[in-house]
Amino acid sequence: MARKLSILEVLLIIFFLTVLALDIFLMFFVFQKDEEAEFVPECPEIPESDRIDCAPGQVVTEDVCRQQHKCCWKPVPDTNVPRCFFPRNWGYEANSIQNDTSTGFTAQLRKLPFPSLFGYDVRDATFTAEYQTSNRFHFKISDTDNKRYEVPPEIINLSERTTNTSNLNYYIEVIDKPFSIKIMRTSNRRVLLDTSIGPLQFAQQYLQLSFRLPSTAVYGLGEHVHQQYRHNMTWKTWPIFTRDAAPTEGMINLYGAHTFFLCLEDTSGSSFGVFLLNSNAMEVTLQPAPAITYRTIGGILDFYVFLGNTPEQVVQEYLELIGRPFLPPYWSLGFQLSRRNYSGISGLKKVVDRNRVAGIPYDVQYSDIDYMDGNKDFTVDKQAFPNLSDFTSDLHKQGLKYVIVMNPGILNNSDYPPYMNGRTKRVWILGDNGFVVGQGYPGWTVFPDYSNPICTQWWKEQLSEFHQSLEFDGVWIVSCYSR
Ligand SMILES: *[C@@H]1O[C@H](CO)[C@@H](O)[C@H](O)[C@H]1NC(C)=O
Ligand SMILES: *[C@@H]1O[C@H](CO)[C@@H](O)[C@H](O)[C@H]1NC(C)=O
Ligand SMILES: *[C@@H]1O[C@H](CO)[C@@H](O)[C@H](O)[C@H]1NC(C)=O
Ligand SMILES: *[C@@H]1O[C@H](CO)[C@@H](O)[C@H](O)[C@H]1NC(C)=O
Ligand SMILES: *[C@@H]1O[C@H](CO)[C@@H](O)[C@H](O)[C@H]1NC(C)=O
Ligand SMILES: *[C@@H]1O[C@H](CO)[C@@H](O)[C@H](O)[C@H]1NC(C)=O
Ligand SMILES: *[C@@H]1O[C@H](CO)[C@@H](O)[C@H](O)[C@H]1NC(C)=O
Repeated sequence: MARKLSILEVLLIIFFLTVLALDIFLMFFVFQKDEEAEFVPECPEIPESDRIDCAPGQVVTEDVCRQQHKCCWKPVPDTNVPRCFFPRNWGYEANSIQNDTSTGFTAQLRKLPFPSLFGYDVRDATFTAEYQTSNRFHFKISDTDNKRYEVPPEIINLSERTTNTSNLNYYIEVIDKPFSIKIMRTSNRRVLLDTSIGPLQFAQQYLQLSFRLPSTAVYGLGEHVHQQYRHNMTWKTWPIFTRDAAPTEGMINLYGAHTFFLCLEDTSGSSFGVFLLNSNAMEVTLQPAPAITYRTIGGILDFYVFLGNTPEQVVQEYLELIGRPFLPPYWSLGFQLSRRNYSGISGLKKVVDRNRVAGIPYDVQYSDIDYMDGNKDFTVDKQAFPNLSDFTSDLHKQGLKYVIVMNPGILNNSDYPPYMNGRTKRVWILGDNGFVVGQGYPGWTVFPDYSNPICTQWWKEQLSEFHQSLEFDGVWIVSCYSR
């Protein structure tokens, strides 16, 4: 009969096992650090136009670039051109590429031993590719070991799927080290996208992927202000982060985040589009290679590629996925006048009258948040705007429309009915410690969670009730951030 182990023996075994595990861990850790320290960047002659910035938004010295980042260094007179740029051997390595499904393929990616730029690199990533339709290719790169935020799938429409993958208008090539993919057009074997121009970066708060493009005819990436419709590919970086910044040429977008671009391949009209489904703050760099780089600070890399014979067809493919825009009322395309602080109802009336007397074409008048009582949604400042509903009726009699501004940050005051109604229904955005509270225009506010159907019902009820006292024709919903 086997002898039972005493408690002391068991404890000793546990102790030795723990020490052993710790040793292995430390060995591995030290080994990994050594590997990073010994990493030798491969810097062949990389054309200036192809350089992918290794220190975006930073000014680094040669020493920091070469020793710390292990990147390539070569200053040139044009200061737009990155002087510190990625070597050819950065990125990930693909293993176990599974190409046995007719609908796509997967690969396991392992980070190569380059030093981390911003820390917390993801070591193992999963690459998943799907042939969704003959013109739509989807691929995503996620963290193999940890769940990360992904935009909820219900916001896109994936109902259109192909069953016959032998008639795809594209085909894919994978290079395993460093990992990259090429997406080609079947008809003429043109390379539409090639990620080998730059390394994949996948850290906790820094995700990056670059694509070499077949032409410089690039459009999209709203909502920015630039002189021409077609993008300038001379080293331009466009931030995409909806934080209510005033529209300024060459600067950040306003309220809309459009992470989509279209590339016109040649004069025949053949085009394709790329969409990154990611809701984090990000930026996009365009460079003369021509190439484009997406950098985002959260979520995963989740790309859709659309092929078309014309730009219109690409846009149709894109809208098939994200949903088609609503048909706006005709009047909303007319001339509109809006600002804050017209000096109450008398100032507002003066502006309306003056414009009409001057015969200026004019379809819509706005009121910004100063019409509200204490900046609270669904209220009117009765002192500054007495009889606002009479004013609205007058506008309507003259054939004008009236739009009011709303800021969906709801004052968290128990005397404020919209808050109390929403609280009962629990429609606010939840944080780790109950409802998220921030400083908005009226003071401490909670934030409606519009992805919750009960919230949209609450919002609709508040608007309908308010509309009974003030017959507005439209609402300008201003992005609401915590100040
Ligand atoms: C999704 O796309 C399908 C196919 O085009 C369409 O019939 C359906 O109405 C769409 N669903 C939504 C919710 O838009
Ligand atoms: C799939 O597409 C190919 C090429 O267009 C065609 O020859 C084939 O008949 C199709 N197969 C089916 C099952 O529809
Ligand atoms: C998958 O396998 C098919 C058939 O062997 C091949 O033509 C194709 O290039 C492969 N795709 C990838 C991405 O490796
Ligand atoms: C593109 O931007 C560069 C650098 O700012 C500028 O010199 C050039 O004139 C621009 N090109 C066009 C066509 O606007
Ligand atoms: C409107 O008036 C308020 C209160 O006087 C002031 O804080 C705000 O800056 C003004 N806004 C604009 C856009 O003039
Ligand atoms: C508001 O309207 C009422 C009734 O139409 C009128 O008696 C009153 O004078 C108006 N008040 C102002 C400040 O215009
Ligand atoms: C509103 O939020 C502030 C800040 O978190 C808090 O002090 C206050 O108690 C809240 N008011 C209500 C009614 O919950």
